[in-house]
Amino acid sequence: MGVSPFTTCILSITIYVYLLSPVLGRATPDFAKPSNIKATGTGEELKPKVFIIDMFKPEGAVWYNIPEFDLLARNVTVPGLSPLFPEAHCTQDGSVCQVITGEAEINAASSISALVYSNIFDLTTTYFLVAGIAGVNPKVATIGDVTFARFAVQVALQYEFDAREKPADFPTGYVPQGAVAPDQYPTSIYGTEVFELNIALRTLAVGFAKNATLNDTTATQEMRSLYANNSAFAPGASSGPSVRECDTATSDVYFSGTLLGEAFENTTTLFTNGTGVYCTTQQEDNATLEVLLRATLAKLADFSRIIVMRTASDFDRPHDGVSAAQNLFGDAPGYHPSVENIYLAGVRVVEGIVNGWSQTFEQGVKAENYIGDIFGSLGGVPDFGPGSSTSLRKRRTKNSQFT
Ligand SMILES: *[C@@H]1O[C@H](CO)[C@@H](O)[C@H](O)[C@H]1NC(C)=O
Ligand SMILES: *[C@@H]1O[C@H](CO)[C@@H](O)[C@H](O)[C@H]1NC(C)=O
Ligand SMILES: *[C@@H]1O[C@H](CO)[C@@H](O)[C@H](O)[C@H]1NC(C)=O
Ligand SMILES: *[C@@H]1O[C@H](CO)[C@@H](O)[C@H](O)[C@H]1NC(C)=O
Ligand SMILES: *[C@@H]1O[C@H](CO)[C@@H](O)[C@H](O)[C@H]1NC(C)=O
Ligand SMILES: *[C@@H]1O[C@H](CO)[C@@H](O)[C@H](O)[C@H]1NC(C)=O
Ligand SMILES: *[C@@H]1O[C@H](CO)[C@@H](O)[C@H](O)[C@H]1NC(C)=O
Repeated sequence: MGVSPFTTCILSITIYVYLLSPVLGRATPDFAKPSNIKATGTGEELKPKVFIIDMFKPEGAVWYNIPEFDLLARNVTVPGLSPLFPEAHCTQDGSVCQVITGEAEINAASSISALVYSNIFDLTTTYFLVAGIAGVNPKVATIGDVTFARFAVQVALQYEFDAREKPADFPTGYVPQGAVAPDQYPTSIYGTEVFELNIALRTLAVGFAKNATLNDTTATQEMRSLYANNSAFAPGASSGPSVRECDTATSDVYFSGTLLGEAFENTTTLFTNGTGVYCTTQQEDNATLEVLLRATLAKLADFSRIIVMRTASDFDRPHDGVSAAQNLFGDAPGYHPSVENIYLAGVRVVEGIVNGWSQTFEQGVKAENYIGDIFGSLGGVPDFGPGSSTSLRKRRTKNSQFT
């Protein structure tokens, strides 16, 4: 859940094997299958069609005791998962599994790494459905909405001043790393700033999710209506809920307020070269995506098979007449519907993939857009950032105090 980060570099120092094959267009990589994959104690291979990735207990629990499938039929202990959530859960036939990572970037990266390198699962053809709640930008979407991202941007991977000490002409205390003004592209590049996902797959997932009847409550409708007066906000902020395509921002720090909201809108626009639209804010996705990108390089997963679905639980900024603090500490009536909608929309996506396995999904959904990171690690030419070779030269600068 949640919102905005700091200059945490723990996830960021990456030694990349740069694949010097700028393949034009993206195809699903051709993976060699690891030979030693076994489910613990069973001797059977677990080769899930869909792996649901949740971040905390209520997001996980909404998938239990449902009519469609039983995720508690097989519990699989995976060394290195969160002590709070030490087991992955699977259906009896292993076709659908779930892991709960724990919250924020460090937990997400650690848990997904443990999962992909455990050799318990064959994940080479698995679709990953990141299914969690998020804060939401009222200019783009609203509480209760179900959103599907193309871009995930690590918006808090920046320098930060306390607002009382920032240069007077800076709108907030955030400045991209290696830059000297808030609107400059970062020159100290860690590689996790932006991830781009498979649009063709997203289109299919959105189609499945649109078939769901979403949950809504009167309290959520009342909260939404408070956003109707401000013309800066989307007409959608006061109506809904609906299924939308819009992008997600990752930040360990859970932020609230108009200025930080706008700062991270700007960061998303800047880092994605104008293509990304900051819509939801959460604390994990770029960490999860970095791990799945590295797992793809290790031929253990397929980066073209990732869906990031975030349901909106709370507004990132206040409506007129209340403060940023009231927005953060006040009621969040969107919380319950957003958790409910993870299941209501997500189960359609899971079923869509499982039911369409042999016709469509087993062989993969070819990405027509660039997918991957700012370095071009998976091949292809990134449509954001300064270009692969420049990015790779800019991993450290004299200003990069944390490397
Ligand atoms: C799996 O774990 C859950 C608790 O997390 C439990 O309710 C369920 O019975 C377990 N399933 C099996 C087959 O032991
Ligand atoms: C995080 O990942 C998203 C893709 O889901 C990408 O658009 C975004 O730029 C990434 N941000 C950072 C800072 O890594
Ligand atoms: C939509 O849901 C209905 C059941 O409610 C199902 O029969 C139909 O196949 C679904 N359509 C799609 C496109 O998923
Ligand atoms: C919105 O406008 C209506 C009528 O103009 C007014 O009654 C209400 O107090 C306003 N709400 C907010 C949150 O400003
Ligand atoms: C966002 O960018 C716009 C246009 O460059 C700028 O006017 C505004 O001050 C920025 N806002 C924040 C909060 O950074
Ligand atoms: C929405 O979910 C809540 C629980 O979060 C439930 O009480 C309510 O009945 C649901 N409403 C609809 C319309 O399904
Ligand atoms: C993205 O924008 C930066 C400047 O902000 C520019 O240097 C870079 O060439 C652009 N990249 C692409 C792929 O357009």
